[in-house]
Amino acid sequence: MAISVAMLWLLGTAVTPAEGSKNHHYDFVIKQTNYTRLCHEKTVLTVNGQFPGPTIYARKGDIVVVNVINQGNKNITIHWHGVDQPRNPWSDGPEYITQCPIQPGGNLTYTVILSEEEGTLWWHAHSDFDRTTVHGAIVIHPKKGTTFPFKKPHKEIPVILGEWWNVDVNRLLQEAKRTGGEVNISDANTINGQPGDLFPCSKNGTFKLHVESGKTYLLRIINAALANELFFGVAGHRLTVVGTDARYTKALTVDYIMISPGQTVDALLEADRATNDSSNCRYYMAARTFASNTGIDFNNSTATAIMEYTDAPCAARAGTPDFPNLPAVNDTDAATTYTEQLRSLANKDHPADVPAHVDEHMLITIAVNAVRGQHDVRWPPWQWQPLRR
Ligand SMILES: *[C@@H]1O[C@H](CO)[C@@H](O)[C@H](O)[C@H]1NC(C)=O
Ligand SMILES: *[C@@H]1O[C@H](CO)[C@@H](O)[C@H](O)[C@H]1NC(C)=O
Ligand SMILES: *[C@@H]1O[C@H](CO)[C@@H](O)[C@H](O)[C@H]1NC(C)=O
Ligand SMILES: *[C@@H]1O[C@H](CO)[C@@H](O)[C@H](O)[C@H]1NC(C)=O
Ligand SMILES: *[C@@H]1O[C@H](CO)[C@@H](O)[C@H](O)[C@H]1NC(C)=O
Ligand SMILES: *[C@@H]1O[C@H](CO)[C@@H](O)[C@H](O)[C@H]1NC(C)=O
Ligand SMILES: *[C@@H]1O[C@H](CO)[C@@H](O)[C@H](O)[C@H]1NC(C)=O
Ligand SMILES: *[C@@H]1O[C@H](CO)[C@@H](O)[C@H](O)[C@H]1NC(C)=O
Ligand SMILES: *[C@@H]1O[C@H](CO)[C@@H](O)[C@H](O)[C@H]1NC(C)=O
Repeated sequence: MAISVAMLWLLGTAVTPAEGSKNHHYDFVIKQTNYTRLCHEKTVLTVNGQFPGPTIYARKGDIVVVNVINQGNKNITIHWHGVDQPRNPWSDGPEYITQCPIQPGGNLTYTVILSEEEGTLWWHAHSDFDRTTVHGAIVIHPKKGTTFPFKKPHKEIPVILGEWWNVDVNRLLQEAKRTGGEVNISDANTINGQPGDLFPCSKNGTFKLHVESGKTYLLRIINAALANELFFGVAGHRLTVVGTDARYTKALTVDYIMISPGQTVDALLEADRATNDSSNCRYYMAARTFASNTGIDFNNSTATAIMEYTDAPCAARAGTPDFPNLPAVNDTDAATTYTEQLRSLANKDHPADVPAHVDEHMLITIAVNAVRGQHDVRWPPWQWQPLRR
């Protein structure tokens, strides 16, 4: 489209859309919206009033033009997490790194250039802690005329894992900056914005995935939590991981996944339970924190959603669904066993483009100056994993 090509020129980049690629336009209006979770109403920033925000759909190699209009009460930027943006850092989004933030009343048009990515990524605010509510999925389909390197799913479902605080998240940030201390833990993990029916005042909103037996569903799972690594699984069903971070993997069938903040996992879910068992047509989908590090504080409660068969007579539709067998919160072996099995698809159509020859080996040491006090310091708000060989 003329506008974005002109914009690309203005940005001084030499990027032109790949053959057959298409432009997509989205308007993202940042606004304050009231949401109630865990019996607490609070005002949060959203895109278009939605929490989680709208999903962006595109194909591999497309260009997505997003006009962000800030009708909120504070500065904000948006980051396109995992998008390589070749020669286009100006649309990357971290505030004060590649741009000044968009001020209230202002607007900015981002050009998101997709190149090698195919699968699921996400977008989120890149200012203060606004990403706790300002986030959404980016779904990147194969190019026209090509298909998934796995069985075509009946439906594709974004499953966004997040966290909810009853207090204004930016008050938490200000407090941590002022005291140099810890950031208070969230009041709940969430699945598509909902803590689920194990939490107070949360039964009505619990996310439900309606399925028909015999059909295959592609879950596009995103960990949008601020700090928590999470185990995720579905009772009575296994997940077949087929991609992570918009790259395909060899199919890996597991009882649960472990997903880090910022990561995405594409997994096939077969609705393959014998539906004639009328006592059972509802299954919990659950997300629970994995915390390898003793001393790291988190909310031990489990976020839930419900997978429900719609095509079976079901005596227990109102009863308690089965619960998945998730590893214990401190089960590092379970997390590592899962992670170590992930392999790039690396076939003819999707080669693993990794240099096979290494010229020089480099040792890189990373340290964090956390002081271990009476309470473990929760700043920076991410966790360190032991290096396993
Ligand atoms: C939104 O929430 C705030 C804080 O709880 C409250 O003061 C305000 O009245 C609410 N606004 C609406 C429109 O419900
Ligand atoms: C908002 O962003 C502008 C630059 O876009 C900056 O000058 C201003 O200081 C920021 N305001 C706050 C409160 O950070
Ligand atoms: C975007 O900002 C420009 C000024 O930079 C203004 O002229 C225009 O009306 C704004 N557009 C919208 C949709 O807010
Ligand atoms: C964080 O937790 C402490 C201890 O419970 C509490 O005193 C403080 O008010 C909390 N901070 C915020 C911003 O809610
Ligand atoms: C849940 O929905 C029912 C029926 O619509 C309603 O009576 C009840 O007040 C709702 N509960 C909450 C906590 O919103
Ligand atoms: C379910 O019941 C129907 C009708 O009785 C039968 O045809 C079908 O094979 C059964 N399916 C399974 C999975 O048991
Ligand atoms: C975890 O969340 C539940 C439900 O909101 C709450 O009752 C509990 O106090 C929380 N735990 C902690 C340690 O904050
Ligand atoms: C955390 O939750 C798990 C699963 O619900 C439970 O088995 C365990 O006892 C809980 N741990 C604590 C410290 O509450
Ligand atoms: C996990 O926590 C439980 C209960 O606190 C403890 O008994 C167990 O030793 C811990 N496991 C590991 C691997 O740290």
